Amino acid sequence: MRFKGAVLTLLALITSSILAACGSTPTAVPTAAPTAAATAATPAATTAATTAAAPAATTAATTAAATAAATTDAAPANSTLAVGIVLPTKDEPRWIQDETRFREALTAAGYQVEILFSQGDSAKEKANVEALLTKGIKVLIICPQDGTAAAAAADEARKAGVKVISYDRLIRETDAVDYYVTFDSLAVGANQAQYLVDNAKGTGNPLYLYAGASSDNNAFVFFQGAWKVLQPKIADGTFVIKNSSEAVAIQAKADLTRDEQSKIIGQITTNWDFNAAKTLAESNLTSAQAADKGNVFILAPNDGTARSIADTFAADKDVKSFLVTGQDAEKASVQYIIDGKQSMTVFKDVRTLVKDAITAAVSLLEGKTPTASGSYNNGKVDVPAVQSAVVTVDKANVKAALITSGYYQASDFTGL
Ligand code: BGC
Repeated sequence: MRFKGAVLTLLALITSSILAACGSTPTAVPTAAPTAAATAATPAATTAATTAAAPAATTAATTAAATAAATTDAAPANSTLAVGIVLPTKDEPRWIQDETRFREALTAAGYQVEILFSQGDSAKEKANVEALLTKGIKVLIICPQDGTAAAAAADEARKAGVKVISYDRLIRETDAVDYYVTFDSLAVGANQAQYLVDNAKGTGNPLYLYAGASSDNNAFVFFQGAWKVLQPKIADGTFVIKNSSEAVAIQAKADLTRDEQSKIIGQITTNWDFNAAKTLAESNLTSAQAADKGNVFILAPNDGTARSIADTFAADKDVKSFLVTGQDAEKASVQYIIDGKQSMTVFKDVRTLVKDAITAAVSLLEGKTPTASGSYNNGKVDVPAVQSAVVTVDKANVKAALITSGYYQASDFTGL
């Protein structure tokens, strides 16, 4: 077992170097599995944007080879590549953060890694996985573009004897997922909603709801977390939903089924796309009367969509003020928060996620079972999981949370 011996030596080195490179980060919160993430069916719809991005038909083998060559640092010939990583897209700063942190942690350990991007396309994602399997990886760390579509890639990895770690987003409807590394996504939605609640006075405040992509299980968990906090404040008249008839129809229900969430999300989805978010916000504002605007409250699911939605609301003359949520602490949104253009973000320390993923990969490579603090049902099995805490960041704590903590440099921003 040359591979195993070599890998184990390497892994000892990696673990210590990674822990050093990652610094002191919050430990995972042992939290029970969110039940909605567990039970409900994933909506099938793939969006036009995703479909449009699909490459022209080629054979899987050709696509795999081309994709690998095009998107990664070439691996030295004959080297052993034990871990392969597949991330959803380079078009969102969030996933570049993950790439950077993986490279920092793994390079510090002198460890070889190949990171491929799926560019919002499940076919490309599958080709990427096939390319990595061909190179002999033993562990696949994958953040699925489409949680259900990725099941086929996970199945292929399982058949090849490769362990699969679902990263940030859960792969659904397959038993071929060995482990799930995630943030507390229910808390992400709850923190966003709580921010709106804490800053609302009186009754009749206009509320605009936006969500992530229906193909991403996280979009459901975020919305579930937000609804739990917002719904009592909709029921008592603090907020009035202005842009979703589906949400209004069931606004008296505290707990929504996945199908109910799916109907609402279908109406308010941004598909995690800045342009789709802008178009939807524009169309919502066109349909709304001046009386539906004024001092507005906006649940935006992440930073990229928040900036688009914020810019759109800022341009409407009938919008007097607005509060808008976000998540990811992307640099552009941190600057928006400093400038008063975005109200808050939910900071998810990617270094923790990377550390957790690598720790799990090391365990799996050693033939051990990674430590789990809970599980998520993916529609087929309970996937052992570890999840880490998230932090609300607004203008008041942006410096302490993101600069003094060493996550970003002060020189990355102006007006701090
Ligand atoms: C991630 C978010 C990200 C979003 C869009 C979600 O699954 O958890 O951090 O902003 O996808 O890429």
